[in-house]
Amino acid sequence: MKKKIAIARGDGIGPEVVAEGIKILKVLQNFSDYQFDFIETPLGGQVLKDTGTNLPQKSFDLMKKSDAILFGAIGLPGLPLGAAESAISKIRQGLDLYVNLRPIKLFESLRDKCPLKEEYIQDGIDMTIIRENTEGLYAKIGAEVSDNIVINKMIYTRKSVERIIKFGFEYAKKKGHSEVISVDKANLLECSQFWREIYLEIGKNYQDIKQRNFYIDAFCQWLIRKPYTVQTVVTENMFGDIISDEAAYLIGSLGMAASGNINPGKVSMYEPIHGSAPDIAGKGIANPIGTILSVKLMLDESFGEKLYGDLIENAVELSLEQGRTIDILPKNELRKGKLKTLNTNGMGDLISQHFQTLLKK
Ligand code: IPM
Ligand code: MG
Repeated sequence: MKKKIAIARGDGIGPEVVAEGIKILKVLQNFSDYQFDFIETPLGGQVLKDTGTNLPQKSFDLMKKSDAILFGAIGLPGLPLGAAESAISKIRQGLDLYVNLRPIKLFESLRDKCPLKEEYIQDGIDMTIIRENTEGLYAKIGAEVSDNIVINKMIYTRKSVERIIKFGFEYAKKKGHSEVISVDKANLLECSQFWREIYLEIGKNYQDIKQRNFYIDAFCQWLIRKPYTVQTVVTENMFGDIISDEAAYLIGSLGMAASGNINPGKVSMYEPIHGSAPDIAGKGIANPIGTILSVKLMLDESFGEKLYGDLIENAVELSLEQGRTIDILPKNELRKGKLKTLNTNGMGDLISQHFQTLLKK
């Protein structure tokens, strides 16, 4: 099977982690029927500086013609706020990638890296945040700026709310989750009242799945109070942005969290949720696991290869017992002594070796 993968390395640590994601795909290529054609699609802050645009038309056209996109990170110090970052909205909206899928799973061996006490972790953290990815405040509709007043309008359309909530329920069904939580601010915002009405309406078709509403402020608290009870969460764009960063820290490091920007059945884009991290760029210490798990998501969601995806996750699990990048080294000195400290490349190599061994079985 031939697949064209658009490679959007971006800025900062983006190129370093994307290289490790490609490594995993190359292992798969060597041990399966897959043949990957990696197509460079430059974008981001440096590209803006060099060419005057953060997303050259040529890159976007190549993305559109690909089977999936692997994205690193964008953002460069010294540029005006948002100058590089707007490329991501252009892709999400341009390709109508309406689902932002953000699985948050605490690996057993990283329990001591979770900032919460044991009583708040209990039998573990394993949830998925499903964020609407094209509308809300991110649509930038009606933005108005004058000297003394600035306006951003939040917009939701029935079509968008329906499709993301349906996706959420179907996802929960597929994963065997017993509950779908919807997060809104319906005690204040009309957009949220509209959202909640549609959530309740669609929920009627999923009677065997428990349904529960949280206001965004209460949910931020719930996430650190009973994270072990949370399964599938659906929410609007900006609330999803905020809670997914909070949740990502629960699994030990922002570097562990993967995401998919998905339009089911169409070209979709996979990226670690961390940013370009300019402070550690070029040092070779970035954690590539968020990117490698994004490749897992790509195989799962775009190519229907759950088995290969699971093997990648197993390979990560096995690797964490042997070596780690500095952000996820154990706190306990004794345990730390038993593990190798790895750089980005070494972490990617170790996971690739395990993946290869698992594929050969
Ligand atoms: C994310 C990021 C982006 C967002 C930024 C870079 C615009 O924080 O993917 O979560 O807010 O969506
Ligand atoms: Mg974010």
